[in-house]
Amino acid sequence: MCGIIGYVGSQDAKDILLDSLELLEYRGYDSAGIALADPEGVHVYKRAGRVQDLRELCKEGVPASTCGIGHTRWATHGGVSDRNAHPHQKGQVALVHNGIIENYRDLIRKFNLEDQLVSETDTEVVAAVLDHYYRKVQDPAEAIRRTVLQLKGTFALVVIFDDKKDEIYCVRNVSPIVMTTFDGNIMLASDVTALGGYTNRYFVLPELCIATCAGGEISLTDLAGEKEVEPEYITVDWELNRAGKNGYPFYMEKEIMEQPEAIAKTVEPHMTDGLSDFTAEGIPDEIFTGCDRVCIIACGTAMHAGLVAQALVQSILRMHIDVEYASEFMYSNPVLDEKTLVIAISQSGETIDTLSALRYARSNGAKSIAIVNVRGSSIAQESDYVIYTNAGPEIAVASTKAYTTQLSILYLIVARMARLKGIYTPEETRAFLSNLTKVPEVMKQVLDKKVEIHKIARKILNAKNVFMIGRGLDYSILLEGSLKLKEVSYIHCEAYASGELKHGTIALITEETPVVAVVTQEKIFAKELSNVKEVRSRGASVILFVKESLASQIPEDEQENIFVLPDMADAFMVMPASVALQLLAYYVSQDKGFDVDKPRNLAKVVTVE
Ligand code: AGP
Repeated sequence: MCGIIGYVGSQDAKDILLDSLELLEYRGYDSAGIALADPEGVHVYKRAGRVQDLRELCKEGVPASTCGIGHTRWATHGGVSDRNAHPHQKGQVALVHNGIIENYRDLIRKFNLEDQLVSETDTEVVAAVLDHYYRKVQDPAEAIRRTVLQLKGTFALVVIFDDKKDEIYCVRNVSPIVMTTFDGNIMLASDVTALGGYTNRYFVLPELCIATCAGGEISLTDLAGEKEVEPEYITVDWELNRAGKNGYPFYMEKEIMEQPEAIAKTVEPHMTDGLSDFTAEGIPDEIFTGCDRVCIIACGTAMHAGLVAQALVQSILRMHIDVEYASEFMYSNPVLDEKTLVIAISQSGETIDTLSALRYARSNGAKSIAIVNVRGSSIAQESDYVIYTNAGPEIAVASTKAYTTQLSILYLIVARMARLKGIYTPEETRAFLSNLTKVPEVMKQVLDKKVEIHKIARKILNAKNVFMIGRGLDYSILLEGSLKLKEVSYIHCEAYASGELKHGTIALITEETPVVAVVTQEKIFAKELSNVKEVRSRGASVILFVKESLASQIPEDEQENIFVLPDMADAFMVMPASVALQLLAYYVSQDKGFDVDKPRNLAKVVTVE
């Protein structure tokens, strides 16, 4: 997704903007640009390609400037090209934008812009409309107000005017903007990692408020231009410099390795005397005991965490629970009322599909709890309650530590509900959660065997297709494992409930089709093993991830390509198994020589529907 940065202060804007755009690269992009203001006006430098290419473009002949804006573009309206890159400059205005303007064609007609446009973007249309109003009113905030009233869609707009050389203006609707001041300087960005360690205090620009950044101060007014709005500062509880790679070749490896610590940091604040504790979040017991339906809404990896919770809720709470793709949720006419508890899971807290689904659910009376990693994010702000995962910044597009810390919170919620519903006594609750406190240690045992997994990864390096098979919780584990392999190695991989193979898909199994099997659930071990035999007998080479206590039952002649997972209670085997599958995907991608952190076509934060 597009990345935005803005700076005005006493330092050289060009280097600050370029360095901050590099911190935004993880979001995924295909072009980049900056605009710098100096006494002569506004100078724009932009091109398709990487930030490094932009640095080359700005190497010489760039005027000194202490005020500017920058952007990394993930193409939506209009292809990847220099002229579609941001910033867009029209007349006295230069701006960058994140989001989608749904009525930009109407605006082209309404403002007769047909002959003025040089790009295929909706953003250039906004710049032209804003320039139209600025020429009319010669007041930046008023011109922005009038422009915003014309827009339909999502936007984070950051603007500089060529006769206001030390001022930046911004306004947003859905797409995020975070802002901060330090020592008379002002920085703003599309997410806090881009603030690059300058500060650990920031605020989220309230929607449809206009921020004026000038003279080292940020002033906020509402759209009517009357009311001053006070910013609500948030302190980041992780050192911003932890967003570095700490010596790992890729963020993904660093974040996989950080999981034991991330899980411990997530679990500890939410346990008291061995029981779940959400007092700090102010979540009343009634929200758990008063609901007659639970619905998890999420996307991608976050949704896969929900599937694990579904298995736990059904087996332990004996309750039905829905897990819905957020992008499908609103269009499936879900039955919602005040007795529905919606749990929105999101690492970024900005995924527009999940945010829209949350808004829809709340507008229909549902209560909501968000499980989010980024403090102060939109989903966190718009949910009735929020439980933060303390995973720290997750930079790699492929989500790893966010997934296992989301699972940790979900185990805590299930334990809380089991206790409140009288299904577990306090002792049984403690026994259940004692497994969770063991997870960091068990995960370390897998991480210590990463070289073994790297060797296994080499066996599927050149595969065109891979199947992943398992039953029950193992199937849920593999849906996530399969996504990891697809998104970082570009190998086509499908997870299948292994009992389902014989109903059609087994037709695709040949000697060229490696199969990854996960076998951790004791009560269905025999069934899973017979499904493994089915694919072996059709020539497939099988890589088997098996729980330690079951490994001794694997026949001698099937011990090749086996990885033994350290024992945990069946319900917790998702933790060691997921780490192993994350490493498998990571090493395949690394050995293929790919940019593991920034897979093609993908973005870390998806803010378009
Ligand atoms: C997971 O590896 C992907 N990067 C993607 O599926 C991600 O989980 C999804 O876009 C949801 O993002 P969120 O958790 O920030 O809402």
